[in-house]
Amino acid sequence: MDLDLVKEGTTLLEVPRSSSYTFQGRYAPFKAPVFYNPRMEFSRDLSVMALRVFVKERKPPISVCDPLAGLGARGIRYANEVQNVKSVMGDLNADAIPLILKNADLNGVSSKVEVFEKDANLLLAESSEPGKRHDFIDIDPFGTPVHFLSSAVRAVKNKGILAVTATDTAPLCGVHPRACIRKYASVPLRTEYCHETALRIMIGSVVMEALKHDFGTEVLLSYSVDHYLRAFTRLTLGARRGDRAAADMGFLLHCPSCGWREKIKLNAAFDPKCPTCGESVSRAGPLWCGQLSDPSFLDKMLNEDRSLFNTSRRIEKFLRIVREECEMPISFYVIDNLSSSLKRDVPPIKKVIESLKAKGHKATLTHFHPKAIKTTAPISDIKSAIRGI
Ligand SMILES: C[S@@+](CC[C@H](N)C(=O)[O-])C[C@H]1O[C@@H](n2cnc3c(N)ncnc32)[C@H](O)[C@@H]1O
Ligand SMILES: [Zn+2]
Repeated sequence: MDLDLVKEGTTLLEVPRSSSYTFQGRYAPFKAPVFYNPRMEFSRDLSVMALRVFVKERKPPISVCDPLAGLGARGIRYANEVQNVKSVMGDLNADAIPLILKNADLNGVSSKVEVFEKDANLLLAESSEPGKRHDFIDIDPFGTPVHFLSSAVRAVKNKGILAVTATDTAPLCGVHPRACIRKYASVPLRTEYCHETALRIMIGSVVMEALKHDFGTEVLLSYSVDHYLRAFTRLTLGARRGDRAAADMGFLLHCPSCGWREKIKLNAAFDPKCPTCGESVSRAGPLWCGQLSDPSFLDKMLNEDRSLFNTSRRIEKFLRIVREECEMPISFYVIDNLSSSLKRDVPPIKKVIESLKAKGHKATLTHFHPKAIKTTAPISDIKSAIRGI
């Protein structure tokens, strides 16, 4: 295999040579004999930070499992960049194994890693016995994570973290609704805020899986960027904690005619007519209606040193926006869309936020969309704010 040497954080990685595995003149991860996507460095940097925060509250050593490891970019970074971590890595691709071992050696962490050529579900099942479970499990698959959730939930320790990535955004965002219903047993909705609905459906699938084992779920950090969704969830044993998580599952009602939207509980009756314009509403879900990130976890992440990451500036901006928006209501409004429906020029987004705040509402930017806001204001007040600028 042709290789390049790259550095992510403080970790050196031998990766498939970008000029050797191309499609239409550009590096194509799927052409390489072992998968590596440089665009996911931001996700790996954030994951290293999240793990650093988490290990401070756990007794060492911390057992991490990266069962879909590729060349080990995550598992090796965890062992190399986070104190007191041991990484168990696996991949079904036989070519991945020697590369993981080589990368571990390159960083002097061979004694902190174990590597298996094995199906991820099998690897996780083998650690589902009490005493063999992991503190932190990272599910980073091609497409949907749902195939691995059952074994991951059984292999995570009490109060451990299950981190999950999904790249099947087309089903989750409602482009292929039947695929979403099949995989997630949830109805997606193709709206301007479909990436948030998608993230909430993905989190919902973790919550529902955890509930089967009497685990309650807290969402520590979740987001949608580039082509993927990501969530860090903490699973804690207890039927009451499960009940609390279940109470945060629900549906989202959306009026395609006027843009009104509202969350409702799983067992709530609902009026199929929009309370604002009287047209029929659509319903998405079941999905997670709770907070998308935990403010105290984000504060701890913001205190972590990120100066050695290549993506440090992006992380800084991203975490600040996510911290601001994390206690805001469900969904967001794209100011360009509202302005064009009102046949108005698009006002500066900061002015819309100021105007809503002046009227006593909360309003923030959102990481989901550069031209959108989250707010406690009803849509009628946002429209008035745009008209008034
Ligand atoms: C998205 S890539 C992982 C990328 C890696 N986590 C990283 O950050 O560079 C998914 C990996 O899962 C492996 N894989 C796919 N199905 C698997 C399975 N059932 N069990 C184990 N590995 C599998 C693939 O060979 C591939 O390396
Ligand atoms: Zn309506």
